[in-house]
Amino acid sequence: MPDHVDYEQHGRTYAEHRRPDPRIAARILKELGDARTVLNVGAGTGSYEPEDRYVLAVEPSATMRAQRPPGAAPALDARAEALPFDDDSFDAALACVTIHHWSPPEAGLTELRRVARGPVVVFTFDLEHLPPWQHDYLAEGLARERPRFPDVEAIADALGGRTRIVRLNTPADCTDGFFEAFWNRPEALLDPAVRSAQSMWALLDPGVEDRIVARLAAALESGLWDGHHGQLRALDRFDGSLRLVVSEPG
Ligand SMILES: C[S@@+](CC[C@H](N)C(=O)[O-])C[C@H]1O[C@@H](n2cnc3c(N)ncnc32)[C@H](O)[C@@H]1O
Repeated sequence: MPDHVDYEQHGRTYAEHRRPDPRIAARILKELGDARTVLNVGAGTGSYEPEDRYVLAVEPSATMRAQRPPGAAPALDARAEALPFDDDSFDAALACVTIHHWSPPEAGLTELRRVARGPVVVFTFDLEHLPPWQHDYLAEGLARERPRFPDVEAIADALGGRTRIVRLNTPADCTDGFFEAFWNRPEALLDPAVRSAQSMWALLDPGVEDRIVARLAAALESGLWDGHHGQLRALDRFDGSLRLVVSEPG
């Protein structure tokens, strides 16, 4: 059973399907305050990087760095657990949808706090607050993901300083392609291209992905999914698993 996600292999279609959502981006920008220099760690293809200030990215995967758009901030090949910067080098630090890949997450969180003299903003998920149908249909995948995600209180503790946890709604037309984004559009998960940009599937034993997808497809085809969860389709946002953990120097 794979114990980590190899972004050299699994990151190849990321930029196509994981477009930053503007409403989430606006909230992240607000939490960065008036920081003029921002370090973005686990930066991937550049999602959620502010465009109105100096940004330096840290991203260990060449496949991901290669998908950064022209004009994006420069990206260093380094890892969160050992950031090659002096203490207090940046006004702020940012980490989006990445800490569950760090080994261990706490080591990288300590590093974020060390190199930032101002806010540290971590965008992550509280998996217990996913929509109930995802707990059901994605249960085998979530069993693999749960041990990788520190809970938000543990993230706050590891960051230290003065911490806040911010709940973000997931818009009905969320443009990012993490699986919670499709809380009201379950059909999207039947598309192998959408799943190819979601790391959970890469952690599964052979056959499990096919089994999950076949069960969801059958439930959609028969009307079972809509019978139980169809009311979600009428909502314009979902108060689910998206969280920002913000640390200010203590
Ligand atoms: C789901 S992607 C998120 C990318 C981007 N932050 C975003 O919001 O779209 C996770 C990223 O974490 C990176 N990553 C994995 N292990 C890492 C580590 N130890 N330190 C820093 N980044 C890491 C991966 O290469 C990948 O680009």
